[in-house]
Order: sequence, then C-alpha cells, then structure tokens
Amino acid sequence: MRSYIIAGNWKMNKTVAESVALAKEIVEKTKGISKTEVVIAPTYLAAAKVADVIKGSNVKLAVQDIHWKDQGAFTGKVSVDMVKEIGAEYVIIGHSEQRQYFHETDETVNLKVKKVLGAGLKPIICIGETLDERKAGKLESVLTAQVEGAYKDISNGDALKTVIAYEPVWAIGTGVVATDDQAQEAQKSVRSLVAKLYGEATAEAIRIQYGGSMNAGNAAGLLAQNDIDGGLIGGASLKADTFFSIIEAAEKR
Ligand code: PGA
Repeated sequence: MRSYIIAGNWKMNKTVAESVALAKEIVEKTKGISKTEVVIAPTYLAAAKVADVIKGSNVKLAVQDIHWKDQGAFTGKVSVDMVKEIGAEYVIIGHSEQRQYFHETDETVNLKVKKVLGAGLKPIICIGETLDERKAGKLESVLTAQVEGAYKDISNGDALKTVIAYEPVWAIGTGVVATDDQAQEAQKSVRSLVAKLYGEATAEAIRIQYGGSMNAGNAAGLLAQNDIDGGLIGGASLKADTFFSIIEAAEKR
C-alpha cells in the first residue's frame, strides 16, 4: 500500500517571519497525523528557520529547486549540499513554472534528479501538459517525454525513492481543477509509463501526487482515485486551515 504524501509548495510567498508562523501552525495541527506524510516547501530564505520549527514534528522540509552543480559561479543558485545541511528531505524538481519561466528542460530535470538522489535526498518530479498540448491530443506524448527524460540513467533502486507530481499546467493557480476522472486517467498513464521503464512492481510502489488547484473542497474526491497518492499544493497550502483540511482528507482514507 502506498502512503499519501501531501506537500505544500509555498512558491515565492511568505516572508521569513510569516513562514515561521505558518510552519508553527502546521506543526500544531498535524500532531495527530500518523499515516500521511506532510511536507512543506518554503523559500530558500526561510528554509533554515522553518527547519528549526519543524524539527521533531510530523512535518518534513522540502525546497523548491536546486542546481545540479556542487558549487561555484552560479549566481542566484543553491546546491543540494546546502539544502541537505539544513535538513531538507525532498526537493521539488521540474515545476512547470521552472519549465515555463526559467528554461528548465527534461535534460536539466534529469541532471537535478541525479544530483538529489546522489545526495540521499528525494526528488518530487513535476510533469504535466499545457492546455494547448492537451487540446492537440499530445497528452500521452508530452508525459512520455517528461517521464523518460527525468528518469534517464536512473537505477530501479533510485527510482523507488522518487515521487512524481502530475500537474496539468492549465490547472495550476487557475482554480480550474482537473476532474477526478481526468486526473485519474492521466495518473494511470503516468504509472504505466513508469512500468514500461522499471516494471510493474516499481510502478505500483512509486507515489504519484496530483497538483493544480487542489483545495479543501476537491481533495477528498481526487485522493479517492486509485492512482492519486497525494497532492502538491500551491495556493491552498498558504493557510494552515485549508492545508490541514487536505491533510485530513488523506489521513481519513
Ligand atoms: P496551485 O499550485 O495549487 O496553486 O494550483 C500547485 C503547484 O503549482 O504545485
């Protein structure tokens, strides 16, 4: 049985003080959570302080990206060792906003996934199609390229440490959520793509989150789908109450 993983992607929101306050609220609320993995991804700037707040709690730390190089002249970037030092366990890789605005490609996703796994951390690998791609009937080919690209030269053992977030780009931050059926259908095909690369057993073990306008109202329906093993949540993760409602929906299943 796969356990649910509910991750809050705070994106470029919250000052350090606000991040600390939100993390404290989430720690309080999740004290009784035992089955669901809870992860939060603040900005780099807030990550170290948030790490102190969540130490010993049910909440785990993620960051929103890393560079694939160890160190050096890469202005504005952060290495995996730096985020490992402060206690991050997960790294979000290949988010559609990175792909759309910051030149992330399937090749750089693959370099980063390898770096994260090499450091003993776990990548949350984001994939998903744009509305134009979906309308043009390219859903399957886009997901295939993204999955094959991300997992190039990754061993079966390492693949088992990864999480995938299927996030239809048209649903991110738009309030237009995929229907339960649309999400399930895409998640299922992502799992079969993993099966083609690594076999059924690995595909059954890897967790695939849904992301894109998941909120307190639609979480239960989405999480009830066979191939949805959690959520990567943006907007609804910025308030402890709404984020916790989603965690509860997972915990109750
Ligand atoms: P959203 O973002 O929940 O605000 O749509 C999801 C994401 O980008 O991970």
